[in-house]
Amino acid sequence: MDFALPDDLRTLQRAVRDFAQREIAPVATELDRDPRFPRATLRRMGEMGLLGILTPEDYGGLGLGYLAYAVLLEEIAAADASHATIASVTNGMPQSLILAHGSQAQRERWLPRLAAGEAIGAFCLSEPHAGSDAAALRTRARRVEGGYRLDGSKAWITSGGEADLYLVLAKTDPEAGARGISAFVLERDTPGLSFGAPERKLGQHAAITTSVDFDDAFVPEEQRLGEEGQGFVMAMSALDGGRVGIAAQALGIARAAFAAAARHAEEREAFGRPIREFQGVGFKLADMATRIEAARLLTHRAAWLLDRGERATKEVSMAKLDASEAAVFVCDAAVQVFGGYGYSADYPVERYLRDARVTTLYEGTSEIQRVVISRQIHRETAR
Ligand code: CAA
Repeated sequence: MDFALPDDLRTLQRAVRDFAQREIAPVATELDRDPRFPRATLRRMGEMGLLGILTPEDYGGLGLGYLAYAVLLEEIAAADASHATIASVTNGMPQSLILAHGSQAQRERWLPRLAAGEAIGAFCLSEPHAGSDAAALRTRARRVEGGYRLDGSKAWITSGGEADLYLVLAKTDPEAGARGISAFVLERDTPGLSFGAPERKLGQHAAITTSVDFDDAFVPEEQRLGEEGQGFVMAMSALDGGRVGIAAQALGIARAAFAAAARHAEEREAFGRPIREFQGVGFKLADMATRIEAARLLTHRAAWLLDRGERATKEVSMAKLDASEAAVFVCDAAVQVFGGYGYSADYPVERYLRDARVTTLYEGTSEIQRVVISRQIHRETAR
């Protein structure tokens, strides 16, 4: 057993850390206060291959595995969580689904643009009344000559209105439950496709989130991904990869909060000595560091299993559950270490806490991760 990252991945990790700290971290506070989609830094990330990490080199990506994906996303998130969310969504579901289920023509049409960051991808599953119960979605795709007409509304779509390509799950057979859902790729300029105003959120302000609405939007048949009725299972298996990305993102935010708290505990003095010397602070830092290390081990192991081509639904959900809960714990503890300054927008830790909070919600809440884990345990036990 070897816990060390491969040398080439460590070299890449250092390069991405340098880039993220040099070019992304300095704009994070400003983007939090004055939210806008960070096109300039996303363009730079695209040039470095960071928006096509998993996509094979043949289609213009870096062709790396999930371990590399987790390591690099952690670096981006340690600089700014919003960049990591946008990167995680465009790297994840659209590209992995097109790669796994697209025809050769579909792969050639969409993957090179996405992998280079020339196009940003969005994933449209959730609806206003169907978040955790994703199969209850109501967006309808009716068959017409040459394709489908879509009607309905998606909610909480990362990069809504900003993304160029939308991977949309819609019901082609409303009587067939999860087996009546199909996947489509829509371009932003599709007539009948529109976007709501950006949601006002607790954190991750630059990861613009909107509704995506379909009003008789025509999608040609050649823009359906996979067969009719396969969409839900495709989306669920892609979420196994996506959730590793969210776990890694949570780790990055937690790491940044921990580093700030550890530094503050060295520099800040009370009662004539650095506050680190008080057990109340020292033990807090110890717990924070331990939670981060444990979550990283779970995340890297889940990624490693995916890289071996194994189904890792349980391990991925464990990683996502643990890393996101650890991130909220660590960021909250960092605020406590900072004392009153932790509550001030002049210091970054309050933003880390706000940014981390959603990691226990999106790509499946902590409760849904527990549902997934317990179902897998049942399957293993009943075998
Ligand atoms: N891999 C492969 N297949 C899977 C699978 C997986 N991980 N999970 C489920 N499936 C298959 C099942 O085997 C089943 O197939 P069969 O019909 O052949 O048996 C089918 O999918 C339906 O599965 P379930 O019966 O388990 O479905 P369910 O309705 O009970 O729901 C759920 C399961 C786990 C609760 C699911 O609805 C879920 O994950 N909900 C959370 C939704 C979510 O994560 N949304 C994230 C939105 S994207 C986002 O947040 C992006 C962003 O902005 C950052």
